[in-house]
Formats: sequence, structure tokens, C-alpha cells
Amino acid sequence: MTTNDNAPASIRQEVESLRKQIDHHNLQYHALDRPEITDAEFDAMLARLEQLEARYGLQSPDSPTWRVGAEPLPGFVEVRHEIPMLSLEKAFSEEEFQQFEARVAKRAELEGEIEFCCEPKVDGVAVSLIYQDGVLKRGATRGDGVNGEDITHNIRTIHDIPLRLHGSDHAGTVLEIRGEVFLGKEGFAALNARAREEEGRTYINPRNTAAGAIRQLDSRNTAKLPLRMYCYSIGLVNGLTLPGTLFEIFALLDKWGLHTNIDRRLCHGAGESLEYCRRLLQKRPQLDYEIDGAVIKINQLELQRKLGQTARSPRWAIAWKFPAEEKSAKVLAVDFQVGRTGTITPVARLDPVFVGGVTVSNATLHNMDEIGKLGLCAGDSVIVRRAGDVIPQIVQVAAAGKERKSVTMPTECPACGSPIERDGDVQFRCNAGLVCPAQRRQSVSHFASRSAMDIEGLGERLIEQLVDSGAVRNVADLYRLSVDKLAEFERMGQKSAANLVAAIEKSKRTSLNRFLAALGIREVGGATAMALADHFGDLAPLLEADAEALQQVPDVGEVVARHIREFFDNPENLALVAALREAGVYWPAAQPRAQDSLPLAGQTIVITGTLGRMTRNDAKAKLLSLGAKVAGSVSARTDCLVAGEKAGSKLTKAEELGIRILNEQEFAEFLLEHEIET
Ligand code: IVH
Repeated sequence: MTTNDNAPASIRQEVESLRKQIDHHNLQYHALDRPEITDAEFDAMLARLEQLEARYGLQSPDSPTWRVGAEPLPGFVEVRHEIPMLSLEKAFSEEEFQQFEARVAKRAELEGEIEFCCEPKVDGVAVSLIYQDGVLKRGATRGDGVNGEDITHNIRTIHDIPLRLHGSDHAGTVLEIRGEVFLGKEGFAALNARAREEEGRTYINPRNTAAGAIRQLDSRNTAKLPLRMYCYSIGLVNGLTLPGTLFEIFALLDKWGLHTNIDRRLCHGAGESLEYCRRLLQKRPQLDYEIDGAVIKINQLELQRKLGQTARSPRWAIAWKFPAEEKSAKVLAVDFQVGRTGTITPVARLDPVFVGGVTVSNATLHNMDEIGKLGLCAGDSVIVRRAGDVIPQIVQVAAAGKERKSVTMPTECPACGSPIERDGDVQFRCNAGLVCPAQRRQSVSHFASRSAMDIEGLGERLIEQLVDSGAVRNVADLYRLSVDKLAEFERMGQKSAANLVAAIEKSKRTSLNRFLAALGIREVGGATAMALADHFGDLAPLLEADAEALQQVPDVGEVVARHIREFFDNPENLALVAALREAGVYWPAAQPRAQDSLPLAGQTIVITGTLGRMTRNDAKAKLLSLGAKVAGSVSARTDCLVAGEKAGSKLTKAEELGIRILNEQEFAEFLLEHEIET
């Protein structure tokens, strides 16, 4: 392993021994949290190794001196995955899994039971590792599946990942190993205990923490976390013939010193596979890592090749998602929150409970009607449900509290004291607009959010201080903030202030759709903003469009058109837009998109009922991006109705009119078919 043969044998021996010792202490310190020597002793050992390697030309990419890079990188380098990193189709019920098996059998013309490799679906971050001649050359994030980020410097800090593969059968090869980087439950708990003590804060959940750690520019930050990795597949292969099954691939990965998940099983047919899923769900609390389901893959690689893939996912695998987790929690109080547009929403403050991978201490109650339906009072115990990234939900009252306090809508806005007014059947509103500090804060927060102007480092606490001190009265004021001014605020050093000013500056170059979304026009979210930008190409024609012209945009109906007009007819809003442009906010003008060339151009589609795997907005955005018009009601001009669960009158009407109806599974397939064609 130590390459320079001219180096004295005693030196080579010392280098080998130092490497072994350092590897051992690294493991004790980072992964096991049980250091056996002091930091100073460790640093001295590492310094000695660095010195010997440099003096005798013994540097090697598998040396622990390569594990932690000394200097932070200036930015990430984009890498392209030669073989795209796909995602997985999902099954939410046993029936959906059986349908998957039937589809596979039909497509591959199979008879008899199919052999599946069933694995836990680890809730972490997918990464790709490239080994050349057995030596780790590159680690990358999945990114959008085609382009990821080079995170080699951070990957090297993970002790589960060998810098050099064991054995010698990989000589002369290039291999891409794929898998999931994650934080174990125990490691996460230890990390949080330390963070609570030293920094007075905790991390929300292991997955987000792992995702943040893997994207650090300074690998010393990554090295502080006990990240682990389970490898599950080989992507790119050059110079090696792979065995015939996934199970044998796992054996190969193990032999090379990579870590694989021992909780995998070989199952025959849907019956055994589903039994595996049920057992895994029972075993979930005992596993030392978070999972959100199982991944079920065809074991024979030849059969995988035969089945191929769609644009997004392989046809030979499916993710079986666990049902949403439910726990009971006590409602300590019900508060009223003021939204960006003044809507007053009741929020339950809960005795914190860990459910669905996060600690939940607040849950929205939507409106007073919902509270009435639940029969909820402060002091009650409730059932909280949360799955994946879904917002926690209160499902029902589990037990009435001993001391119950009924919930009533206040008469004055809790943030500014203005009278609260009724708006429609169930909504209540504070109409004070940007005079109300809560609405001002939220509008700044919305403006800076990732899907809008994407200003990194402008957190809620700082926004609160900026707005409450009067430094930011409206979003255009953000562009006037100086480093010195920002550095006056709590927890803002010169460095973070300078970073924030740079991020604000960077946000000036944006796109029309982001800008429109950032303005916070009622009912204009990301999908509508995109449709408006696509349709008008620039702001000027949009400002001139009357309600009728606005309704020509696929995503815009009467109500949205009215909100858009009301927004731009208000001189204060026009002044704000002008101030933002004067401050330097700009976007490259685009050609209005030629809708007719898209695969669903000319088709009018209506979505109704509840979709389980995507939100209605996501479904709408997908359809719009394929050129369809998404309408709100069924008529003779409707081409197709997407009907989720509990679809009502629209479904009946579509049936009467003989319109094509797609259930959720058929809709997913319909989207895939069209995406392949694009
Ligand atoms: S196989 C073609 N196996 O789930 C996709 N994925 O939506 C191959 N994941 O991005 C993925 N555990 O991050 C596979 N045992 C496992 C997994 C797993 C977690 C993640 C992975 C992927 C996502 C798929």
C-alpha cells in the first residue's frame, strides 16, 4: 500500500503502523464517541504521518491523512452521472405491490414466482462512489439524478467507506458503488446530546442532518458527525464481469470492505415479499437506523435489464412505503397564527412527541371548523400522524383532558391588535396588511424562501429582528442592508453578515417565475408563477393583461386572475416592484413558451379527490409542464379527469359525459408515458 519502494523499510513500517492507529482512533472518536487519546496526541500522530509521507514520497489516497481536508472548498463542483441515478416508484398498499408484480410478470412474460431482493429503505442520502483500481477517486451526491455535486472531501471522512477496496480482483477496473449515507439513531442521539449541551440546540432528524453534513464545504464539519453508509448497488462498471444476481453483488461489496445492510432477504413472490415488509415494520423500532419503507428489487440482473426503466425509475424495483406513523400527544394550548396574507390559523401546541422521524411540537388545526369536527379542547390528548415530509396532522381526540379549555377565535389580531374579520365560511382574517408585523415578517420570509428569491442565511429569527427593529419595512429594504448594519443583530458576526449580504446580492439575478412567486400574490404559488412566466415571457405584458387575458394562462381561473389584478392595481405594490428593480433585481427575458409543441398541448384535464403520492399542486404542475390546461370543473370540453380517493360530483359528471377517467395509479403511468416521449 505504501508505494515508494526506495523509502527505508523502518519508515514504511512506521507509516503503516501510524495509519492503522489513526484509523482506529478516528473510529473511536467520530463513530463510537469513545476517544481513547487526547486531541493533542491524535494531532501529533497525524502530523508525524503527514511529515513522513511528504518527506519520503509515501502519500497515498487511502491514507487517513486524506480523510479530513485541511481547507474548506470555495464551492461545489458539478459532476455528471454517466448512468443516471433514478428514483423509485412507490407502492402504498399490498394491492399496489401485487399490481407491480403482475406488471413485471406480464412485461417479462414470466411464469411462476419471481425472486425478489428485499431491503430496508434507509432514510438517508443517496451517493455515488467511484473507485479506480480499487482506490476511492470520487464521491458525489445524487443531485437531480443526472448532475450531482462532488463531495469527495466529505466522503473521505466517513469510516464505513474504505479509501481502498479490500482484495485485488478490482485491479484495472473502474467501479461506481451506490448507496445511502445516513446517521444511525444512536449516533444521532449522541450528536443531539452534545449539541444540546454545547450549543443549546438540537437537530431535527437524522436524514436532514446527514444531508446537511454531506454538503459541507469544510470537511472538518462533516467529520464531526458519525455518518455511516450502506451500499446497495453497482452503477458504472469497467473491466469486471458482474455476477448474475443482486444477492451476489452484495456478497462482492462485503468482500471489498464496503458496508451493506444485513437486514436484506431473498423472497419468492409477492406473498413472501409482503411478509418481509410486515416483519420489517415490526422490527423498525429495534433497528439502529431510520427507515421509511422497504425496497423490493428483482434479484436476477438479466431480468432487470430486460425490464429496463422509464424516465424516472427502473421497472424492476418498487419502494413499499410504510403507513404514516401515529402517536398520541397532549395539546398544551391552542394559539392563533397570522399568515402572510392575514389568514388567522389555529395551531395546537403539543407536548413534544417523536413521530414519523421528527419531533413534533406544533400542528396546524386549519380552521375553526376543523376544531369543531375534532371536538378538540386545549388539554386534550390527540393522535398525531406524520409520514415522510408531510406536515403533521391531528387525526382525532384520543382522550378528553381533565382540565379542558374550549377554543374560541379571538376578536383582535394577536400580532397587531386590529379587528379580526370573517372571510367566507370558515376563514378569519386580519386585514391590516403590511402594517401588521406578523404579515410583514411572513412576507419577508416568503420572499427569501428557497422557491422564491432563495436568499440563504436569512432565518426566521433574524427576519423577526429586522422587521421588529424597523430595519426592514418591506422586501426591497433587504437590498439596502449593509454588513455593518446586519452585524448589529444578535448572533450575527461580521462573517455571517458578509455572507448574508453576498447571498442577498446573488439573489438579484433571478427568473421571472421566482420573482412572481416571491411577491406573495394571493393564490400565486410556484406552479401558477411558472405558468404566468411561461405565458407572458416578461413582466410588462403581464402588468398590462386584464382579467380575461390572464385567464388564458393554463393555471389561472377567475379567482386567481382577480387576485393578480388586485395586486398589480395597488399602487403600493407597483412601487414595491419598481423599488426591487431599482435595487438591481433582474431576470433574463424569455420567449413565451410555444405550448403547442408539448405532448399534452390542447388537452384539458381536471383533477379531483385526494391523491396519495403527490399533492394536487404537484400533479397540476406536472400536467402544465407537459402543455395541458388544468381546469377547475368538468365540462364537455374536458378531455380527462384524474380522480383520487373520495372523488365526488366531478367524477359523477365525468362518468355521465363519458370522459376518460384515470385513477391515481393510471395517472402515474400516464405521466410516465408522456415523459418518455418528451
Ligand atoms: S435502490 C433506482 N435501495 O431511496 C433506484 N434505494 O427513491 C435505486 N434508498 O434515491 C435505489 N434505501 O436514496 C435503493 N436499499 C435501498 C435504499 C434506497 C434507501 C433511497 C435512495 C434512492 C431512493 C429511491
